[in-house]
Amino acid sequence: MALAKELAQAIIDPKSYSQREIVDEAFRTIRANQPLDKAELDDMDPFWVVSRHADIKEIERQPDIFHNGDKSTFLSTKEASARVQMLTGGEPNLIRSLVSVDGKEHKDLRAIVFPHVTPKAIRPLEEAIRGIAREFVDHMLSFDGECDFATDVAFLYPLRVIMTVLGVPQEDEPFMLKLTQELFNNADPELNRRRAELSPDEMLKSLWETTMELENYFKAVTEKFRANPTDHINSLIANAKIDGEYLNHRQMMGYYIIAATAGHDTTSNTTAGAMWALAERPELLRQMQDNPERINAFVEESIRWEVPVKHFMRSAVADCEIGGQQIKAGDWLMLSYQSGCRDESVWADPFEFRIDRESNPQIAFGYGVHVCLGQHLARMEMRILWEELFKRIKSVELNGKCERTISNFVCGPKHVPIRFTAN
Ligand code: HEM
Repeated sequence: MALAKELAQAIIDPKSYSQREIVDEAFRTIRANQPLDKAELDDMDPFWVVSRHADIKEIERQPDIFHNGDKSTFLSTKEASARVQMLTGGEPNLIRSLVSVDGKEHKDLRAIVFPHVTPKAIRPLEEAIRGIAREFVDHMLSFDGECDFATDVAFLYPLRVIMTVLGVPQEDEPFMLKLTQELFNNADPELNRRRAELSPDEMLKSLWETTMELENYFKAVTEKFRANPTDHINSLIANAKIDGEYLNHRQMMGYYIIAATAGHDTTSNTTAGAMWALAERPELLRQMQDNPERINAFVEESIRWEVPVKHFMRSAVADCEIGGQQIKAGDWLMLSYQSGCRDESVWADPFEFRIDRESNPQIAFGYGVHVCLGQHLARMEMRILWEELFKRIKSVELNGKCERTISNFVCGPKHVPIRFTAN
């Protein structure tokens, strides 16, 4: 029997994610009763909801059976999917990026940037990132005891870090922030392109316009870096060749767009969520000031806690069995990272924020061949920010109501008002 309509609705509705407890509660029921079952909703193709940590891993371990690129890589209505196909000439995703390709194409594309984002390769960036972190800590302290940590620090610091690594000039940062927020937060009237509640039709139109604006911007980037190559990631993308040919237009634009957008909103959401958790638990700050080596555990737990990427979709290309269910070729599956990170069979107390866990196999970066390309950079920049910030403050607490973005894809806290005392 398929999932009850209310449960299915709760886990796809962008508004539920703005009150996370609704989604957590729905998934708690799903994990307990129907951990891998179908959602059947009127305006969407049916899809399997994969809620358990082990099943998500099992699926991601088999990229030859579970494809990213055959259907939409994120939840999409039938109507939106049909329009995307019209706009792209038959492709299921508006943007052809690493997350929407498979097999050799994915392997070749990933190999362009992968060697430059390993832990060893990014180590030399540590001092430059520390400099950026110090600037943002100074910026926070300039607010004299009160700020909105999300908008004043968390949205801006990861943006500066990733733009520096990509080779985007500082004056273009507000433009990149705006377009990323439009891309990921289309359902949120505070952040989307029209600053209004949008119909599904208007949402798709806005997405298309944002994509075209990004493509226009990146056309000039290709010209610039082909004329003068550097070791920035955008230059690697502009100059990369596969089998002797430059990337085609869709591959290149998709690469620029994913590198520019996936690299900060995710980290911003996690950073804002970490501050929210910290401000609600006064003992944590003292614990980390006394034992700075615990900051790594704090970062890992905040990624598990916040899970900024809520889901990705896969589609099966062969019949198979997962979690006791018969999956058929052509079936569509929703991998819920939020649910995977709350799985009671992995964490005895998944709804507690703890930095003393013996192990924390969070799955918020995904798993397998598509596992987050920026995971080491994300961890490093968050660790450095906290190392710099914890030296400079004595206390922090909430100073009003936090708010979450309305989105079912990449999202998190958009307002985290805090009160703090500086050292
Ligand atoms: C806390 C921060 C972040 C989280 C939670 C996160 C999460 C994810 C997730 C869940 C995926 C899909 C994995 C899968 O399908 O198995 C992904 C893919 C990806 N992420 Fe991240 N991400 C973060 C930060 C970053 C950063 C900083 C960058 C940029 C440097 C980045 C670039 C990418 C790229 C390029 C992919 C596509 C990889 C592929 O399909 O091969 N991410 N990320």
